[in-house]
Amino acid sequence: MNSLNSNNGIYFAEEAEQWLRRRLENNPDRFMLCDTNTQLHCLPHFEKIFGKTDPGHLIVMPAGEAHKQLETAEEIWRQLQLSGARRDSLLMNLGGGVVCDIGGFVAATWKRGIPFIHIPTTLMAQTDAAIGGKCALNFGGIKNQIGLIRQPEAVCILPDFLKSLPQQEIHAGYAEMLKHGIIADAGLFRTLLKGDSRVPPNTALIRRSVGIKMDFVQQDTEDRNVRKALNFGHSIGHLLEALSDGRLSHGEAVAQGMRAETRIAYDQGIINRDDFLEIESALHLIYGDFPKLSCSREEIGKLLAADKKCDSRSLNFSLPECIGKVRTDCPVSTEEVWNALQTIG
Ligand SMILES: NC(=O)c1ccc[n+]([C@@H]2O[C@H](COP(=O)([O-])OP(=O)(O)OC[C@H]3O[C@@H](n4cnc5c(N)ncnc54)[C@H](O)[C@@H]3O)[C@@H](O)[C@H]2O)c1
Repeated sequence: MNSLNSNNGIYFAEEAEQWLRRRLENNPDRFMLCDTNTQLHCLPHFEKIFGKTDPGHLIVMPAGEAHKQLETAEEIWRQLQLSGARRDSLLMNLGGGVVCDIGGFVAATWKRGIPFIHIPTTLMAQTDAAIGGKCALNFGGIKNQIGLIRQPEAVCILPDFLKSLPQQEIHAGYAEMLKHGIIADAGLFRTLLKGDSRVPPNTALIRRSVGIKMDFVQQDTEDRNVRKALNFGHSIGHLLEALSDGRLSHGEAVAQGMRAETRIAYDQGIINRDDFLEIESALHLIYGDFPKLSCSREEIGKLLAADKKCDSRSLNFSLPECIGKVRTDCPVSTEEVWNALQTIG
């Protein structure tokens, strides 16, 4: 696989600062989308480097997954309209995965698409959500039901933003980095296991994680074949996130989803016992016991069927073959999911 360089439109640290400075000189008509937390913790640092945002061009949404909704998108469109945003206006999304997902969606649809830049401020967004161009909203209680794939003009990763991020959010983002290790790089997985999931990893590890995601995205931008590898842990993860009603963060749900899906891979004879046990014990140690679910087999079947990763005939999961390699399009039955959920403690 190719290694990552700045031509992918992804810039780190000083390079990101230089790129953004040049870009903003050329486009004074810039809008900034934040949530209430990034307005408080990240905007002052951003403005110290890049100058003040025109108050009429600052759009602040409420923080949290519960607001990744059509109503929020509508409010942002309304504010763009009131402030006279044009086809060549620029939207900067300063925030975590929620701000990047909704900001990307709003920009991609406003006047059939205006340029946008992600400036991710959580570990989850720096290593995953801001990378690859997927933008989506939740709808009808199901994750990411409405959305599209549109690449941002650039992703500017400034590690300094992680300094104000609460520990539990680092912990959540760590899960996606561990996933990148399990699906493509055993060395990354084992290096992360030696670290502390509540402390921001160094920039080299963030770069490696981003590089893995970009390698899959570049080979399959539209998510038709190899990119599906990145779905490991997400079929069951999204189900758990929906059932937990906000108690599990996206990252924690994906970590538990990876445990359950690795169990299915083991039951199907896809992964050997040693690798299964290594993944299972590591994720259990870091993310704790599996959440208690109060829902029926039928409910689980319905939620799985509503997931985008399911086609008209079957559930198709991406399951690990060993640490560092994943197999896509593995047929899985609701029964197998139910059994895995019962087995994991
Ligand atoms: N598009 C994709 O490919 C993709 C991939 C992975 C996840 N996602 C989506 O990303 C979302 C999860 O992202 P997330 O974990 O970043 O959640 P988030 O955006 O809700 O951020 C988590 C919390 O941290 C706060 N925050 C953000 N940056 C901060 C900072 N620097 N200092 C202090 N507080 C800060 C936020 O306000 C929020 O309260 C989910 O909706 C998920 O579906 C999308």
